[in-house]
Amino acid sequence: MIVAGGFWGDEGKGKVVAYLALNDKPKIIARAGVGPNAGHTVYSLDNKFGLRQLPCGFVYKGARLLIGPGVLINPEIVLKEVKLTDSGDRVGVDHRCTVIESSHIEQDRSSAHLKGKIGTTGTGCGPANVARVNRVAKLAKDIPELERFLTDVPQEVNDSLGKNELVLIEGSQGFGLSLIHGTYPYVTSKDTSACTLAADVGVGPTKVDDVMLIFKAYVSRVGEGPFPTEMAMEEAERLGIVEYGTVTGRRRRIGAFDFDLAKRSVMINGATQLTITCLDRLFKGSSGIKSYGQLPANAKEFIEHIEGELKVPVTLISTGKDIKNIIDLRSEKL
Ligand code: IMP
Ligand code: MG
Repeated sequence: MIVAGGFWGDEGKGKVVAYLALNDKPKIIARAGVGPNAGHTVYSLDNKFGLRQLPCGFVYKGARLLIGPGVLINPEIVLKEVKLTDSGDRVGVDHRCTVIESSHIEQDRSSAHLKGKIGTTGTGCGPANVARVNRVAKLAKDIPELERFLTDVPQEVNDSLGKNELVLIEGSQGFGLSLIHGTYPYVTSKDTSACTLAADVGVGPTKVDDVMLIFKAYVSRVGEGPFPTEMAMEEAERLGIVEYGTVTGRRRRIGAFDFDLAKRSVMINGATQLTITCLDRLFKGSSGIKSYGQLPANAKEFIEHIEGELKVPVTLISTGKDIKNIIDLRSEKL
C-alpha cells in the first residue's frame, strides 16, 4: 500500500502511517518522497515525534524501516532520528540515496528565487536534486557514518512482496507540490504522486495493490503559489484551524476543501481509498470519536459529500492527534 498526500502536504500522513503500521503490522515500512523538507508528526503515548527522514511507522516495532533510493538524505538528520526513535537495529538506507551537502543548503537559503520567490523549506532539497541530475552528487554509500545502515531497498522490498507480505510505502509532500503535476513553479523539486513514490523505493506499478490518498478536511499550504480556496487569516482563526509548519515554523495558509484539486489528485494518484484527517478541527463534537455512527450529522454529510464527488471510499477518518483517534471503516467498505 502506498500512502500519498492529496493536497499541498501536511495532510497528516505521519499519523495515518503510524496507525496503519500498528494496526496492519507490515513487515517493511519504506519512506518515499523528496527528502527532509518533509515534517511528519506522530503523537504516541503522550510523546510527540517530528520526523523528517525515517518512516513514521517506527512506532510499530515489528517493521523494518527503510529509506528508498529516490529519497534525498541529510546524514545528520538520519542519524539524529535513529537515536531519537531508538531504532538503529531495524533501519536501512539505500546505498543509492542522494546526499544533501551543506553547499546545497546554502544555495537553497541564499537564492532569491528559491527561498524568496518559491518559498522553499531551505533544506537543500532542490539543489541536491540538481546535483543528482548533473551527476555530481554524493550517494549514501560514500558516507562512512551510514555504513552500518546501507542496504539494497528495492531488493528487500520486492523480496518481501514476493512472499506476499505487507509493505507500506510512506510518501511525503502532497500532490499539488509535484514538480510535474502541481502548481509549477511553486512546487517541490520532484514528482510527488503515487507512481513516483513507488519508483522511489523500487516497486513497479504492477506490484501496487492499494493507494491510500490523504486529504485534510480543509486545505493548508506553506510557501508561495496559487491556492484557489484560500480563506482570510481571520476566517481560519474564527474556525480554529490555524497551523504552523513542522520544519520551518512558518504559519500555513489555510483554505476550504478543494474538490477540483482533489478530483485531479484522485485521478493521477490512482487512489483506491481515501483518508480524511483533522475532522475534529472542523466539526465540533467529532473529537476523539471512534465510530462513524457517533459523528455529528454535519460531519457525516461532509464525508458523504466527498465520497459522492470523488467516487472513492473514505475508509479512514482521523478525529484527533493521537494514533488511537481514528475511525477505521475498511472492514465495512472494502
Ligand atoms: P522545497 O521542497 O524545500 O524546495 O520547497 C518547495 C515548496 O514545497 C515550498 O512551497 C515548500 O513550502 C513546499 N514543501 C516542501 N515540502 C513540504 C512539506 O513536507 N509540507 C508542506 N510543504 C512542503
Ligand atoms: Mg508536514
